[in-house]
Amino acid sequence: MKGKFITFEGIDGAGKSSHVEWLAEVLRQRGHVVHVTREPGGTPLGEKLRELLLSEPMHLETETLLMFAARREHLARLIEPALARGEWVVCDRFSDATYAYQGGGRGLDRAKFLALEHWVHDHLQPDMTLLFDLPLDVARERIVLANRVLDKFEQERADFHERVRQAYLERAHVSPGRFRVVDANRPMHDIRKQLEQIFSSICL
Ligand code: TYD
Repeated sequence: MKGKFITFEGIDGAGKSSHVEWLAEVLRQRGHVVHVTREPGGTPLGEKLRELLLSEPMHLETETLLMFAARREHLARLIEPALARGEWVVCDRFSDATYAYQGGGRGLDRAKFLALEHWVHDHLQPDMTLLFDLPLDVARERIVLANRVLDKFEQERADFHERVRQAYLERAHVSPGRFRVVDANRPMHDIRKQLEQIFSSICL
């Protein structure tokens, strides 16, 4: 039996990362073997690329190609073998992030995104994508309150992040079967209740 591939998406400050490990634990309690991973990253090479991607300024197409290079490695070494063994993979960001950040945020030509997506994982899409959505000003406030050093993307201006948000919503709109949009502007407890409902009502 093939395993399931679940991805988490959203603008910076949406709070998705705090639910990733929690959801994995819920799924483990149901008897699944679950891998928690992230993008860019998830492999030794991918984590090195992540360091560059989150700090070095670079050409938009270089950035996009490196995101997909890290993704190819991640698929080959972790995601595909785990799914083939019938295990679950819960991944903090995947190609929807490239669509939203490099496409929506930076204006990458959609045909180039689609060509790379087709090349790198034509055969595979997440079984479910949880999109954590909230207004930009709330997300910004959370980032400021966290009081940490901001990475390259977090340092972008508000209009960049607004375009990222809109691109995510647009992508969710065209794939309603795969996406669940989670209103992230609520207490953690309410969000987890919704996630539990999502995973108990669907037969994944
Ligand atoms: P993020 O997942 O938010 O990690 P953390 O919670 O540690 O800040 O950071 C990854 C950043 O990389 C995020 O700002 C979005 C960006 N990103 C892209 O621009 N394109 C991509 O394809 C991916 C996977 C991430």
